[in-house]
Amino acid sequence: MRGKTLIAPSVLASDFSRLGDEVEAIDRAGADWIHLDVMDGHFVPNITFGPPVIKAIRNRTAKVFDCHLMIAPADPYLAAFADAGCDIITVHAEAGPHLDRSLQAIRALGKKAGVSLNPGTPENVIEYVLDRLDLVLLMTVNPGFGGQAFIPSVVEKVRRVKAMIGTRPIHIEIDGGVTPETAPQLAAAGADVLVAGSAVFRGDGVEAYRKNIESIRTAADLAVGRIV
Ligand code: DX5
Ligand code: ZN
Repeated sequence: MRGKTLIAPSVLASDFSRLGDEVEAIDRAGADWIHLDVMDGHFVPNITFGPPVIKAIRNRTAKVFDCHLMIAPADPYLAAFADAGCDIITVHAEAGPHLDRSLQAIRALGKKAGVSLNPGTPENVIEYVLDRLDLVLLMTVNPGFGGQAFIPSVVEKVRRVKAMIGTRPIHIEIDGGVTPETAPQLAAAGADVLVAGSAVFRGDGVEAYRKNIESIRTAADLAVGRIV
């Protein structure tokens, strides 16, 4: 049986004027990974931050930096994100024509490689790159903004990806509209990492964030019988 569900708070929902403090707060609140949403105003209709900002917060936590690149093209910037301190670098399958090349480039930089799929993208696009993957990030909203409504049809895709992965050591991570209400069906379908932005950065500071993280994790773990 696998361990507890990993929770990756997305700093997109944090107070950017205190970004370093917010990263420390979610670290102390029990976040497993720190999810970093990089947007370019081209692949998605929003712009966030890039390598210099990530580098600036790297010394605020030792936890895994889980970098979700919503940029096209991604390849010219992979080295910069690796240098900034990202541990996992995830590119979108829809962001470029050479997914296999992008994944090889991430691993060549010594980082874990992930691929993300938009809600409307079928899972078969990862069939021939499975052995180059450490993580599959399935979007349960259309990427670009926090606080959007969960798209339930993706739950079936989670099941299918779980079956495709078989015994390979590949994480299935979910991003978008994750709450204690949506987490159980995702965990039951095979997700082992849940990103949450607005459901974590609610209330003020470490204790509120801890409760928010714990309630998502507990809801997920109960659904797969990890808590009795
Ligand atoms: C959306 C981002 C998400 C976002 C999730 O494009 O990739 O990581 O922060 O936000 P919530 O959890 O509020 O749906
Ligand atoms: Zn994300």
